[in-house]
Amino acid sequence: MEAWRLSLWTLFSLYLIISGAKADPSQDKRALLEFLTITRPTRSLNWNETTPLCKNWTGVTCNHNESRIIALRLPAIGLNGQIPPNTISRLSALRVLSLRSNRLSGPFPMGLAGLKDLAFLYLEDNDFSGPLPLDFSVWKKLVSLNLSNNRFNGTVPVSLSGLKRLQSLNLANNSLSGVVPDELNGLSSLKEIDLSNNNLHGPLPSWLLRFPPSSYQGIGDDVTHFQPPPEPPTRKKPKGVTKTVFLLIVISVAILLLAVLAFVFALCYLRRKVTIVKDHKLQKKGGMSPEKFDSRMEEANNRLSFFEGCSYSFDLEDLLRASAEILGKGTFGTTYKAVLEDATSVAVKRLKDVAAGKRDFEQQMEIIGGIKHENVVELKAYYYSKDEKLMVYDYFSGGTVGVWLLCFTVTEERTGFRWIGKRG
Ligand SMILES: *[C@@H]1O[C@H](CO)[C@@H](O)[C@H](O)[C@H]1NC(C)=O
Ligand SMILES: *[C@@H]1O[C@H](CO)[C@@H](O)[C@H](O)[C@H]1NC(C)=O
Ligand SMILES: *[C@@H]1O[C@H](CO)[C@@H](O)[C@H](O)[C@H]1NC(C)=O
Ligand SMILES: *[C@@H]1O[C@H](CO)[C@@H](O)[C@H](O)[C@H]1NC(C)=O
Ligand SMILES: *[C@@H]1O[C@H](CO)[C@@H](O)[C@H](O)[C@H]1NC(C)=O
Ligand SMILES: *[C@@H]1O[C@H](CO)[C@@H](O)[C@H](O)[C@H]1NC(C)=O
Repeated sequence: MEAWRLSLWTLFSLYLIISGAKADPSQDKRALLEFLTITRPTRSLNWNETTPLCKNWTGVTCNHNESRIIALRLPAIGLNGQIPPNTISRLSALRVLSLRSNRLSGPFPMGLAGLKDLAFLYLEDNDFSGPLPLDFSVWKKLVSLNLSNNRFNGTVPVSLSGLKRLQSLNLANNSLSGVVPDELNGLSSLKEIDLSNNNLHGPLPSWLLRFPPSSYQGIGDDVTHFQPPPEPPTRKKPKGVTKTVFLLIVISVAILLLAVLAFVFALCYLRRKVTIVKDHKLQKKGGMSPEKFDSRMEEANNRLSFFEGCSYSFDLEDLLRASAEILGKGTFGTTYKAVLEDATSVAVKRLKDVAAGKRDFEQQMEIIGGIKHENVVELKAYYYSKDEKLMVYDYFSGGTVGVWLLCFTVTEERTGFRWIGKRG
C-alpha cells in the first residue's frame, strides 16, 4: 500500500516537472515576438528567432536555468499603441517589467494581473489613460511602482494599501482626482512616494506628512484650511482715541506685562534647571561621558526623543499615523492636535525653515524641555531629521491654550528661536 502511494507521488512529481519544463522560453519567445510585431518600435531590436533568447536578445533576462524570462527592460525604444493582449501577460515568471519612456497608450494593461511575481513595474513616461486597476492585491510582491507622467485619471485605489512590500510609489503627473486614501498608511515598507501634480485634494492624511513636501505638492488642503487672525490695527483713527482702541491698548499693555513676567520666571528657572538636568542625565546614564551620550543620540535616528519622567509611550510611527487637526499656523510652523490610537491627544508643532543643525537643535530642545513652571507648558518630546523637526507638548483644550501659547512664545524666544506663537 505504502509503495503504491509512493509511486503515485513520484508519477505526480514527474508530471509537474514535465509540465514545468513545457513552459520553456520558446513560449516566452513567441509571446515577445508577437508583442514586437504589434508595437513596432522605432529603434530596431536584435530579437531574431534563430538566436538564443536568454543570451542574445537585448532587454531580456532569464532565470539561472534559462527556463523562463524574469526581466524585460525596453525603455525608450519607441514602442507604439496599446500593449497587445495575451503577449506580455504570458511571461508569467516576470519580476521586472520596464516599458518606460515609450509611446504606449490605451488603458492600464490589465493582462499584467496574471504576473503574480511582478516586483518592479515601470510604465512612466507613456500615454496611458483611464482609471488605475481597482485591485492591486494581485501583485503582492510589488516593491516599486512607477506610473508617473501618463494620463491616468480616476481615484487613487485603496487596494494599494495591501502591498506590504511596496517601497516606492510614483503616481506623479497624472490626472488622478479625489482624496489621498488614509488607508495607504498600511504601506508599511514605503520609503518614497510621489503624488504631485494630479488633481488630488486635501485633507492630507497625517502619515503623508513624514515624506518631503514635494511628494504631495499641489494637493490642496482645502478642508483644514486655517485663516490666521487679522493683525490688530496699528494706525490710530483720526477721530482721537475711541473706546475700542483704548481697550486694545489696555489689553496690549497687560499682555506685555505678563510676557515680561513670564520671561523673568523663565530666566530664573533656566539658570537652575539647565545644570540640574545635565547632572541628572549623567547620573542616569551610569556615568557615561557626554560624548558617548551624544553618539547614542546619533544612533537613535528616526526616533522621538522623550524627556525624562514623561509618561507617553508612543513612537514616531504612532505619531505619524495619528489623525491630525490644525490648531494654528505661525511664521515658524504649524501646530497640530494629534489624536493617537490609544486616544491620547498631544499638540505637535511642526517647525519649518529651522536652519539649526542636529546638535544645536537638540541643545535648544534640552533647554526648553528643562523648563518646569506652572505657566509654561512642558515640552514632552521632540524629533529631528533633515527634513522634519517636531516638538511635542501636552494638549490642553479650551481656554488654557491661549495662556499656553503666550508662554510658549516667551520661552522659545529666550532660547533663540524667535517665533511668535499664534492663537489657533
Ligand atoms: C528551473 O528553475 C526553476 C527555479 O528557478 C524551477 O522551478 C524549474 O523547475 C527549473 N526548470 C528546469 C527545466 O530545470
Ligand atoms: C536572424 O539571424 C540570421 C543569422 O543568424 C540571419 O540570416 C537572419 O537574416 C536574421 N533575421 C532577422 C529578421 O534579422
Ligand atoms: C550570442 O551571444 C553570444 C555570447 O553572448 C555570442 O558569442 C554570439 O556571437 C551571439 N550570437 C549572435 C548571433 O549574436
Ligand atoms: C519614476 O519615474 C520618474 C519619471 O521618469 C522619475 O523621475 C522617478 O525617479 C521614477 N521614480 C522611481 C522611484 O523610479
Ligand atoms: C477619464 O478619462 C476618460 C478619457 O480618457 C474619460 O472618458 C473618463 O470619463 C475620465 N474619468 C474620470 C473619472 O475623470
Ligand atoms: C512632473 O512634471 C514636471 C513638469 O513637467 C517635472 O518637472 C517633474 O519632474 C515631473 N515629475 C516626475 C515624477 O516625473
